[in-house]
Amino acid sequence: MIQLEHLTKRFGSFTAVNDLCLDIAEGEIFGFLGPNGAGKTTTIRVMMGLLKPTAGRVVLGGHDLAKNPLAAKAISAFIPDRPFVYEKISGREFLDFIAGLYQVPAATRQSRVDESLELFALSDWGDELVENYSHGMKQRLVVAAALLHDPQILVVDEPMIGMDPIGARMFKALLRSLSLKGKTVFMSTHSLEVAEELCDRIGIILGGQLIALGTLDELQQHANEGRLEDIFLKLTAAPDMLEVIEALRA
Ligand SMILES: Nc1ncnc2c1ncn2[C@@H]1O[C@H](COP(=O)(O)OP(=O)(O)OP(=O)(O)O)[C@@H](O)[C@H]1O
Ligand SMILES: [Mg+2]
Repeated sequence: MIQLEHLTKRFGSFTAVNDLCLDIAEGEIFGFLGPNGAGKTTTIRVMMGLLKPTAGRVVLGGHDLAKNPLAAKAISAFIPDRPFVYEKISGREFLDFIAGLYQVPAATRQSRVDESLELFALSDWGDELVENYSHGMKQRLVVAAALLHDPQILVVDEPMIGMDPIGARMFKALLRSLSLKGKTVFMSTHSLEVAEELCDRIGIILGGQLIALGTLDELQQHANEGRLEDIFLKLTAAPDMLEVIEALRA
């Protein structure tokens, strides 16, 4: 459902993403892990057509993103790490605007927006200005907006920062239910617990390169460690960092 073929992104002489190849199946929840600056957000921005790749190809649901961007984007949704929401309109107006962008048919638009407010527990706030929403409510609104056009592919960059436990539980349940409906989820996260709990496969990126890929079982065997945290540290932490961690534990 998502194919990244030899994807490379350079900024000047700096290579942020280096020859990345990934094939994500329909219905899969894929976890994209890596330390700060590893290239996760850059990969995602290229995947969503916000940055042009220096080399390589992105194919979403069989549509080549460079050749057929509208078809590729029409079946995809993106929740960025720092979502932008217009503050001076109401939640309902925001959802209606997004539904219009994605050409949700006028006949069903109003009911889609109402259902969506209901599903994300925002019905009572639908007519309030977004600027009065709490952080978690804005997050729920952004997720609601992303799902309005019933996308086949959901790409999420660091979704759960600042979510309270109820919001986090709701979001995890939502991703599971989307996957059960055959939707494909590509998620970058620093939460190893979420990755362990939710993801069918995990890829680890370091310095722009994919250094590990597989199910949790496969990664455990590959790194000869049991916990994802230990696997992650073993594969990505510089030796001097590991020494600092050991010294602090002593
Ligand atoms: N527009 C840009 N111009 C120059 N360098 C950039 C640009 N965008 C990203 N980079 C660099 O590319 C590298 C990867 O950044 P990226 O944001 O993809 O990392 P990340 O894995 O998402 O990190 P984090 O976990 O902190 O979100 C970093 O070194 C960053 O400074
Ligand atoms: Mg990032």
